[in-house]
Amino acid sequence: MQTASVTIDPAFRVGPADRRLFGSFVEHMGRCVYGGIFEPGHPAADDRGLRTDVLDLTRELGVSMVRYPGGNFVSGYRWEDGVGPAGDRPRRLDLAWKTIETNAFGLDEFMVWARAAEVEPMMAVNLGTRGVQEACDLLEYANHPGGTQLSDLRRKHGAEEPYGVRLWCLGNELDGPWQVGHKTADEYGRLAAETARAMKMIDPSVSLVACGSSNSGMPTFGDWEARVLEHTYEHVDYISLHNYYDPSDGDVDSILASGVDMDAFIDSVVATADHVAAKLRQRRKLKLSFDEWNVWYQSRLQADLDRRGWVEAPALIEDDFTAVDAVVVGDLLITLLRHADRVGVACQAQLANVIAPIRTHTGGPAWRQSIFHPFALTARYARGTVLRTEPIGPEYDTARYGSVPALDTVAVYDEEAGELAVFAVNRGAGDLALDLDLRSLPAAAGVQHVTLAAATDPGAVNSADAPDRVIPRELDRPAVDGGRCQIRLPARSWNLLRFANRR
Ligand code: AHR
Repeated sequence: MQTASVTIDPAFRVGPADRRLFGSFVEHMGRCVYGGIFEPGHPAADDRGLRTDVLDLTRELGVSMVRYPGGNFVSGYRWEDGVGPAGDRPRRLDLAWKTIETNAFGLDEFMVWARAAEVEPMMAVNLGTRGVQEACDLLEYANHPGGTQLSDLRRKHGAEEPYGVRLWCLGNELDGPWQVGHKTADEYGRLAAETARAMKMIDPSVSLVACGSSNSGMPTFGDWEARVLEHTYEHVDYISLHNYYDPSDGDVDSILASGVDMDAFIDSVVATADHVAAKLRQRRKLKLSFDEWNVWYQSRLQADLDRRGWVEAPALIEDDFTAVDAVVVGDLLITLLRHADRVGVACQAQLANVIAPIRTHTGGPAWRQSIFHPFALTARYARGTVLRTEPIGPEYDTARYGSVPALDTVAVYDEEAGELAVFAVNRGAGDLALDLDLRSLPAAAGVQHVTLAAATDPGAVNSADAPDRVIPRELDRPAVDGGRCQIRLPARSWNLLRFANRR
């Protein structure tokens, strides 16, 4: 068996494990809203049509914040269509997903859902087909207390108190030629800056996210961020990153190394933002909002779109996630935590049905996909301060990323509670013997070792009929002796190792 070692020291602080790193995303796409979180008439729906089984799973998942309403959808969306009496709402063509949007669910329903799900709302404004005025109108409707036409309209619709939405995305993926209202970096940068200035006049407490690239493979990546930030740096609080990791080619070694790619992407955007800050003599460091990330079998999207004409809530990209995908998701969370000093917001895309941890049948049950588990356990136990770890161990070769470390780790220490969580992924095809050095935490005792291992049945998935085929398993409690701990990490596995100070 190969060996690796990691030293944990509470002095190696990265920053607080911000709850906003455990965000998710609800888009009007496929069956995320309709048949996902909202399905009037479903046996588990409440009197507002919200599926309580999905609400229960959302709370169990530990999601802290949810971005809404898109995604590509928002770039052609008129938010006014989704408020007011349900019978008066127009049916529209949604060009992004070739779908009929009924507008039965809109902003007010989302806010009710968010409160029930115990999540912070993160809203996106349409800067594709719309501009400064419509963004201001939406903010006034949502956050202004009353005494104006739009804030009083919200009150008339039943929400007496302002929603107080703090986080706002200035459009979505406007660098992408597929985007309705696609723009050049200068066109978007000017519009985003003017929208940001006006929005902060209405409510100076909002935090704003400028659109970065749709993914790190875009031909304009790097230049887009630099140009957009030259226009917007002083007006915004975050620049966004989106990236999906595609396992369609079956190259397990490469997909397991997706965290290496995410690491490099984050480092590049940090460097670009800091370059612009230096140029503009800005002392404030910009934060990053990784507001779309996940595993996605992207080759399946075109087939989904080709299969039909204009219909309501079609099944779109309802990927079945495997045990390997769950290990990848666990590792992407490790990567996000490692950058907690600069990444302040992250949203796994999406929450229900559409490349999602929660799946449902319309009219039927809801279940947890494999990727649900590492997310839920990380959200639950990554509390306190993120600690830097520097694993020493073997590497292996990948077709996509060259030679990569087999072991990836991060630690989170809750000093007050005296609790330490170490998250570790063994990407390698063989078991790994890990030597954990905890001598800087002399009172640490092992509490739990949970693993989700993919080597024996890598393609296993959960389904409505077999919802627990891929779940985490408990291994022996880690034994600490003289501040050292030897642990076996199964091949191709995600692991949670918990320790607590002996009182
Ligand atoms: O999450 C699915 C889609 O992926 C989003 O609508 C878009 O922003 C991204 O390209």
